[in-house]
Amino acid sequence: MSMSTPNSAALVIDKVNRRFGGVVAANALDFTIRQGEFLAVVGPNGAGKSTLLQMISGVIRPQEGEIRLGGRRIDRLTPEAINALGISRTFQTSRVFPMLTIRDSILVGTQVGLIGGGRSPRRYGPVGELVSALFRLPGYRASAAAAEARAEEVMKMFGDRLWPRRNDQAFSLSYANRRRLEIARALVQDPDILLLDEPAAGMNPSETDELTEIIAELRRSRPSMTIVMVEHKLQVVRQLAERCIVMSQGTVIVDDTPAGALEDPRVIEAYLGTKRSAAAFGKVNDDG
Ligand SMILES: Nc1ncnc2c1ncn2[C@@H]1O[C@H](COP(=O)(O)OP(=O)(O)OP(=O)(O)O)[C@@H](O)[C@H]1O
Ligand SMILES: [Mg+2]
Repeated sequence: MSMSTPNSAALVIDKVNRRFGGVVAANALDFTIRQGEFLAVVGPNGAGKSTLLQMISGVIRPQEGEIRLGGRRIDRLTPEAINALGISRTFQTSRVFPMLTIRDSILVGTQVGLIGGGRSPRRYGPVGELVSALFRLPGYRASAAAAEARAEEVMKMFGDRLWPRRNDQAFSLSYANRRRLEIARALVQDPDILLLDEPAAGMNPSETDELTEIIAELRRSRPSMTIVMVEHKLQVVRQLAERCIVMSQGTVIVDDTPAGALEDPRVIEAYLGTKRSAAAFGKVNDDG
């Protein structure tokens, strides 16, 4: 979809501010994400990491500043419009339709605009939305076979976790499988930019390793896909990312390679006194 050449700017975050009451979730955020880059965003709880993804995906609007995609301002667009421009995301907390099968949940991802996360309450609820998307969108029937093929492909990326269960309803899935399903649903759109909010959250160590390998394989097979991943598990960041932005109190305090960022004294200081510091930096000592 993107016309940009490798290493050109995919996303520009330009002096973005966002407050919630007295809380400053984004404070003069200002950086560029290049096309094909794998950027990790880390930082203590409440640093503003999810807010950044919410603003890129259009769920939340900046109060000041701009976000540009390939030179075009996107921070006033709807989540649906941003999604249609090639940005797909997962959420920190799983959002699946419990009664849909895995297969249908992923096919929903091929229907742009359904799961972008709206600013206003949905008028008909998820089922009404789904029905209208499945039957109303022009060209749906013509593209159905292609969508099925693509859904099969992304399910099979997760080995035997999703594909053999494709006719099971989402509510019957394990927590880890629901997280995998969400990633598959974002990938089925074949996005130019993939936003992952704590994809390994709540996964045990072997599930985390498995997911890390799947994302690494995705990276090898789709090197032009830009990936922005918020992740608290620093070993995942070290294994996958090329660049690591550390946020604290709504602002970027370090922008470096993962190895450089995670050893930076400012980063350790930002984590001190937060409940995840012990867990996060225990891992630096273990394997870093
Ligand atoms: N919709 C909202 N309404 C009010 N406050 C919000 C909203 N979204 C975020 N905040 C506040 O903004 C700050 C940043 O939140 P955000 O969710 O971006 O942090 P985070 O870095 O993703 O944290 P975590 O690691 O816990 O997921 C927090 O203080 C949070 O309570
Ligand atoms: Mg978050």
